[in-house]
Amino acid sequence: MLVNATEMLIKARDGHYGVPQFNINNLEWTKAVLTACEEMKSPVILGVSEGAGKYMTGFKTVAAMVSSMVETMGITVPVALHLDHGTYEGCKACVEAGFSSIMFDGSHYSIEENAEKTKELVALAHSKGLSIEAEVGSIGGVEDGVVGAGEIADPAECAKITDLGIDFLAAGIGNIHGVYPANWKGLDFEALDRIHKATNNIPLVLHGGTGIPDEMIQKAISLGVSKININTECQLVFAEATRKYIEAGKDQQGKGFDPRKLLAPGAQAIVDKCKEKIELFGCAGKA
Ligand code: 13P
Repeated sequence: MLVNATEMLIKARDGHYGVPQFNINNLEWTKAVLTACEEMKSPVILGVSEGAGKYMTGFKTVAAMVSSMVETMGITVPVALHLDHGTYEGCKACVEAGFSSIMFDGSHYSIEENAEKTKELVALAHSKGLSIEAEVGSIGGVEDGVVGAGEIADPAECAKITDLGIDFLAAGIGNIHGVYPANWKGLDFEALDRIHKATNNIPLVLHGGTGIPDEMIQKAISLGVSKININTECQLVFAEATRKYIEAGKDQQGKGFDPRKLLAPGAQAIVDKCKEKIELFGCAGKA
């Protein structure tokens, strides 16, 4: 059974560790992430962007696949199925489709419009038992073709959105999606501290987890971050392992072209990467 993410994040906040959000792209991804989290006894949030949802033929397919996989794999750790960077319409569609958590990303609207739409979606999500994340200060980098500049969120705006009753907050602190450029200045911990103090101890979310140095991740957790999103890093290790397999000519040996064999090294690389992140976030054994 899927659970919403509120309880796991409150426990993480109080226990000073981070819960991973691993984004999923297909069946292999989902199976690999669930395998790693079950082995590590870690709660997990499966993130689905609108683009990935569309790729998998729609949110209903995703919800059915994840729910069935949790059951048939005998997963015992808490699993939340969460819309990542949702539009207003996408949020409504995920509530309908059986997700257990949504993120409304209204960071590109004026703060008034962001607040108005967030408020409406808080009421909808909570009426159906889902948790809801909101965003202030857009995260930089490219996500599904949308380029954000990597703003530092304004603490007063963060407080305004938090007061609407959201369950966790994504606030920009210089983090960006994808691989960080060589001249990246790092996370702005003073901004994080100000945001944390202004938002009544709400669990904070760190997007763009790929490529943030380990000590910065740990410092962010100590300053109120309870959820860390990882997407690109799993894609990179999957691609690398698959490339190695093909470059070694293994797809041409015996039945090495069988997708179950061809995709196995990449899937195993995702399992290993997830385990490494779970250790780093201090989430092992917390399920
Ligand atoms: P990365 O792709 O940089 O890991 O970011 C993931 C993310 O924040 C998803 O919302």
